[in-house]
Amino acid sequence: MKTVVSASAEETMTLGRRIGEAILQLPALFSIALTGDLGAGKTCLIQGLAKGLGVDEGYYITSPTFNIINEYPAGVKRLCHLDLYRLGAPDELEYIGFEDLLGEDAVVAVEWPDLLREDGFVFNLELRFEFDKDFNRIIRIIPSGQQGTNLLSTLSLP
Ligand SMILES: Nc1ncnc2c1ncn2[C@@H]1O[C@H](COP(=O)(O)OP(=O)(O)O)[C@@H](O)[C@H]1O
Ligand SMILES: [Mg+2]
Repeated sequence: MKTVVSASAEETMTLGRRIGEAILQLPALFSIALTGDLGAGKTCLIQGLAKGLGVDEGYYITSPTFNIINEYPAGVKRLCHLDLYRLGAPDELEYIGFEDLLGEDAVVAVEWPDLLREDGFVFNLELRFEFDKDFNRIIRIIPSGQQGTNLLSTLSLP
């Protein structure tokens, strides 16, 4: 696990961008769970992730709270941004077609990932957001398995 303290939205985006650049070096599907309260910076980090992956700057990335899934082309990859806040039960995952999203070109970033985890899905990385007393964001980077661990070891962090 590594910890980053971010004092601004820009710093959080920079972390996301570096993660995106590192993912571009990988040949396989990569998945990230983002956890933490509303306003913690999960979507902000994904905006940086999109930059790092080379998603066209013309796309404005917002939390897909109502439509659940947003997909963006990212060169040879594809960014799948999910926000499961409004999902009520695991069987709705089937309804939204989660399995169909998965492929080796997919970078899957999920806000409010609990239902997926309960369903047995294992993310390569968790980014856990907390506030400190000065409203900085403490971002814990928790890898799972070889792919997540390798990625974390290649990240140059501030
Ligand atoms: N260090 C920081 N990291 C991320 N966002 C920050 C930070 N400081 C202030 N902010 C602001 O907090 C808000 C985070 O919103 P958002 O990324 O949508 O949160 P979430 O997706 O977790 O609900 C943005 O308005 C952003 O400008
Ligand atoms: Mg959000």
